[in-house]
Amino acid sequence: MMSPIQVFQGAVIFSKDSENLKILDNATLIVKNGRISAFYESPDQTPASAIPADAKISRLPWGEFVIPGFVDTHNHAPQWTMRGLGQSLHILDWLSEVTFPVEARFNDPDYASQIYGQAVDDFLRQGITTASYYSSRHADATKILANMCHEKGQRAFVGKCNMDRHAPAYIQEKSASLSLQETEECIQHIRGLPGCSSPDTALINPVVTPRFAISCTPELLQGLGDIVKRDSTLAIQTHFNEAQQEIDATKELFPQFGGSEADLYESFGLLSPRSILAHCTIMTDYEKDRVHALGCGIAHCPIANMTVGGGFMAAPVRDFLRRGIKVGLGTDSGGGWASGMLSVIRQAMIASNAREVMSEGKDKALTIDEVFYLATLGGAKVLCLVDKIGSFEVGKEFDAVWVRTTTGLESAMTPREAGDTLRAIFEKYIMTGDDRNVANVYVRGRRVAGTDNP
Ligand code: GUN
Ligand code: FE
Repeated sequence: MMSPIQVFQGAVIFSKDSENLKILDNATLIVKNGRISAFYESPDQTPASAIPADAKISRLPWGEFVIPGFVDTHNHAPQWTMRGLGQSLHILDWLSEVTFPVEARFNDPDYASQIYGQAVDDFLRQGITTASYYSSRHADATKILANMCHEKGQRAFVGKCNMDRHAPAYIQEKSASLSLQETEECIQHIRGLPGCSSPDTALINPVVTPRFAISCTPELLQGLGDIVKRDSTLAIQTHFNEAQQEIDATKELFPQFGGSEADLYESFGLLSPRSILAHCTIMTDYEKDRVHALGCGIAHCPIANMTVGGGFMAAPVRDFLRRGIKVGLGTDSGGGWASGMLSVIRQAMIASNAREVMSEGKDKALTIDEVFYLATLGGAKVLCLVDKIGSFEVGKEFDAVWVRTTTGLESAMTPREAGDTLRAIFEKYIMTGDDRNVANVYVRGRRVAGTDNP
């Protein structure tokens, strides 16, 4: 049972914005019923009366620190078992040769329960406290995934993948109307989970999930747009300008949009401030302008962009940030190979270095502070959860990772040394740490994973 009042005293690190990383050596965070009720930045600011007598107090030893939980803005849960496969294939070939046969297995609810249970555990133990999931196209499996997140305590968006054309018969949906009916069923199921009826307070929320325009008939896209029109609180997610092979096929299927995926999805009512657009690697200025004007967020998936997809694609993240477009990071699960955000953070730095070279110095590489921001507060903005999570502020919910850094071979992390600053220890963890450094993971103050034995 969670004590109603928890106090964390010690080092706390979080982003104030994309350029300002706050590193506090000895802060006090007071968490009441899962929410931060008081936050003192240093001991001299902490009144003795602030700590209730019945609070559960956790004092972090020197070298350990608390950070906001990682936010994974793009994750295909059924692809968790195929991470690492087909990494050199172009996107449409990768889908038909590797991905669709794997996702088809989720027709079996027992299989879905087994794999989704393991996948959610794995993402949680890596410190992913919030994920925006694509399930497979199966309604039962989608409900199982939502139940699993709810039970294990992971904050999530869960969407039934819509795909009624251009897929093999064994996985393609039978019709647009059936796909829409099952989508509505899944939305209702998720809203019916305990505590999830109101989007403002729900731990699990539904997300409308057209896989991408290639796999959806215009009738299906329109029907999904109509669902969103009837309920503007619904989030939407899709793949957007991911790779040349996909862009060419989309243009051929929808010639009336002249190659603009922004115009295409907008025409069906699928672009809003609640839209999460995955990849966005090949973006014209027009596409960037539209995404910005419509307030959509971008799920940057640097591992997938440089492995599957068809080439070496470094999304123009610096330009997105310059324009004020919301950006977060995504594991992509199967499209990438990682189940942890540390790998994604590192690849985001590498991709941004490539982008600096490709842009002849115009798009400067991202700093470690910026990529950490993308993995936490940036992702919270993309998912429209910034008033709840992504950083530490009074009133926000306590989604956090307690990082235990190491002095020897306990993890892959560069050992911490006595003279290290907290900043140096943080950098060592971000660039070389692993899940063994995750002592405790909290969502709304509830401990949901970790290597610690409390
Ligand atoms: N485009 C359509 N489906 C997918 C998918 O599952 N993964 C990626 N990376 N791109 C896609
Ligand atoms: Fe994807």
